[in-house]
Amino acid sequence: MTSILNRGPLFIVFEGIDGSGKSTQCDLLYRHASSMGIPAVRLAEPTGGAWGKRIRAMLKEQAMAPAEEQLRLFLLDRQEDVEKNIMPALKENRVVVMDRYYYSNAAYQGAAGIPPERIIAENRAMSFPEPDRVYYIDIPVDTALRRVSGRSGKGTEVFEKEHFLQKVRDIFLAFSDGRFMIVDGTKTIEEVFADIKRDFECLQPREQ
Ligand code: ADP
Ligand code: TYD
Repeated sequence: MTSILNRGPLFIVFEGIDGSGKSTQCDLLYRHASSMGIPAVRLAEPTGGAWGKRIRAMLKEQAMAPAEEQLRLFLLDRQEDVEKNIMPALKENRVVVMDRYYYSNAAYQGAAGIPPERIIAENRAMSFPEPDRVYYIDIPVDTALRRVSGRSGKGTEVFEKEHFLQKVRDIFLAFSDGRFMIVDGTKTIEEVFADIKRDFECLQPREQ
């Protein structure tokens, strides 16, 4: 049996609409792994790097950049994240706990008008590493928006609109590859984490 301390390398991605509880669950998984002595790193896209900062500024604007420009910026941010953060951590046998990845790209820029299959193909063409598991935290849009409006310290961003997020959710729910696990995000924080933890404990380290 794999030793609990020898869990990595593993690449775990959390996806969901804004307010679904991704950040909360990323924190819980990262803390759980760390408390067991498992080397882990918690990452997020958009990142805190130069491209990520440009994206965050764009998200605060009222008039959104065209979808193609959004796609270009998110791809550049992801390329930097893969080179500087994700690949080095996987090479060090860490568990990478990632808040959003290219599935968000397909769902959000897909909802903005670009065919999601094309977005996936562009990401794959850049040879970004595939995750070992994607936890998609599913909640209805109205619940998510209620949570986002109650979140302190962040204004409402351009994507946080009901009709748009409904399209985003529909695209997420159409993904069906084997690494994609739909988690019921309407349960309590503790119940959602119990579902994730149960699955996480059974994952096998990836081949390098
Ligand atoms: P995301 O990262 O997906 O935008 P957050 O983790 O920031 O979502 O959660 C959004 C808000 O909802 C936060 O105030 C958080 O405390 C709360 N929250 C997260 N998960 C749940 C849950 N399962 N039930 C109720 N509230 C939750
Ligand atoms: P994030 O800070 O994770 O938002 P939240 O905490 O509210 O869930 O992400 C900011 C926004 O960026 C979010 O609305 C989704 C969007 N996004 C894309 O449109 N494309 C992408 O490729 C990624 C990674 C994020």
